[in-house]
Amino acid sequence: MCGIVGYVGAQSALDVVIAGLKRLEYRGYDSAGVAVVADGELASTKKAGKLVNLEKQLVSHPLPPGSTGLGHTRWATHGGPTDANAHPHLDNTGRVAVVHNGIIENFAVLRAELADRGHRLDSETDTEVTAHLLAEEYAAAGDLAEAMRRVCRRLEGAFTLVAVHADVPDVVVGARRNSPLVVGVGEGENFLASDVAAFIAHTRSAIELGQDQVVELRRDGVTVTGFDGSPAEVRAYHVDWDASAAEKGGYDYFMLKEIAEQPKAVADTLLGRIDASGSLTLDEVRIPASVLREVDKVVIVACGTAYHAGLIAKLAIEHWTRIPCETELASEFRYRDPILDQRTLVVAISQSGETMDTLMALRHAREQGAKVLAICNTNGSTIPRESDAVLYTHAGPEVAVASTKAFLTQLVACYLVALYLGQVRGTKWGDEVGAVVRELSDIAGAVDAVLETMEPVRALARSLADKNTVLFLGRHVGYPVALEGALKLKELAYMHAEGFAAGELKHGPIALIEKDLPVVVVVPSPRGRSVLHDKIVSNIQEIRARGARTIVIAEEGDQAVVPYADHLVRIPATPTLLQPLVATVPLQVFACELATARGNEVDQPRNLAKSVTVE
Ligand code: M6R
Repeated sequence: MCGIVGYVGAQSALDVVIAGLKRLEYRGYDSAGVAVVADGELASTKKAGKLVNLEKQLVSHPLPPGSTGLGHTRWATHGGPTDANAHPHLDNTGRVAVVHNGIIENFAVLRAELADRGHRLDSETDTEVTAHLLAEEYAAAGDLAEAMRRVCRRLEGAFTLVAVHADVPDVVVGARRNSPLVVGVGEGENFLASDVAAFIAHTRSAIELGQDQVVELRRDGVTVTGFDGSPAEVRAYHVDWDASAAEKGGYDYFMLKEIAEQPKAVADTLLGRIDASGSLTLDEVRIPASVLREVDKVVIVACGTAYHAGLIAKLAIEHWTRIPCETELASEFRYRDPILDQRTLVVAISQSGETMDTLMALRHAREQGAKVLAICNTNGSTIPRESDAVLYTHAGPEVAVASTKAFLTQLVACYLVALYLGQVRGTKWGDEVGAVVRELSDIAGAVDAVLETMEPVRALARSLADKNTVLFLGRHVGYPVALEGALKLKELAYMHAEGFAAGELKHGPIALIEKDLPVVVVVPSPRGRSVLHDKIVSNIQEIRARGARTIVIAEEGDQAVVPYADHLVRIPATPTLLQPLVATVPLQVFACELATARGNEVDQPRNLAKSVTVE
């Protein structure tokens, strides 16, 4: 949440910062602001609303040119999305500017102390105290990085801070605790940002900042220390996607582009992980086979869409390995005192690698002695860094707030983990693993085929634009798909949408069915577990008898559903466990088109941010 950019170099800081903020706006878009240091003075401006409002303000009230600066795009926590609460925040002399991501939990105490010492605080934010404290500490220490360390030692909570001071025009400092911040290393210029997307147009050399570290950026150098001032070891890495990957590439929305990229993302996530004999070679999984053989329980923790991937993974893991597996909402996990030990494998799934709830869950698991394997899309992010091992999804940058290609690649990674566990523990023979892997390899083509046939789904979505409610039903792997379809519709179309296990219908939800209510039903293959198929066909008849308008997603050739489908969406035949990889795609297209038809912002839905870095 919140996007942060800092720059020092030879270019116009304002141009670099604004371009960076545009790439980070998915992180929050309540308000935006910038500050530059020019001729020994600090100049700043900020504006409520989207970045475009700030850009307009910069046209009518330009800032002086400067080559050191910072910027922020906000997702409000403390204080509403007003001009006054927008970042940067300044001290009373107007010489220090700070931007922040996270929550400073002890801000009220610090605010009272500052007020006692005569400071005037103008906003309702927790952030503003840091600008005042930094000004005081700089006056005492005469060094901005040292001042930042002193301030950080006083703060409680989660924070990324980036600051400039008019007295040191060629310095930007940053700090991080439980909140993302990466360094971009250029030639004669350096960058700080919440995400590499902000600077990949300038450099693909990056440095991960660790927990409780302060970084000082000058044109010709980067110095990293701990909050205590001790030199810190850092990990440099190369960003392996280029600037065009984070562009819309001719699509109206990032979401449309990301939906279309799914066949490639699925194929890329399989790439290099299968050897010639069909066995899995997951070299990244650094947890020794001897430890994996001892695992007696798998617990998956994740949030939102990633949680839905985890629900499907549970079915695959239990089916292929016979190890009991639970999938938990990361936000609930540690508060219920879960039973974990050295024989528990915890799988943390996260696109961003920064979701605070998932991070806290994995920390809790490691404290109890469990091994943690992350499934993550973002190199250099916190969750993989704090896990025992990581399996990266190779979806490329996902910019739209609504997750699409990340979900499909999370599923692929989950299947790989499940098969790998089966392979290591001998519950799956090599040829069985090979057979599933071959089926997985065919999925990219199947997703492509689904995408080719989406026009009727779009037309249907447009025809439902004035509805208030859509329900989604599924069984087995189709149930998490139904949940995911409902989540997509809620977050994009702002409609009442709920996913149910179809078997639960008669236990209450069927009371919601009324004439012409759209109900999407995800139908399992009639070939695999035909009993599941037959049950859901009965469920479709039950809701149709009560007036529902049925939108049936069913495998090609499934004739049994035809008489009961008001709208029939065909998907290619796949093995039962892999069906979510194709069945989810029409639901993504459906939600995207409905959002567009209702005039909603597709890539930046209201109240949301892509990366949820607060609990
Ligand atoms: O980055 P993460 O995968 O950890 O994010 C988890 C959820 O916040 C995320 O999947 C969210 O539910 C999506 N916006 C849904 O489309």
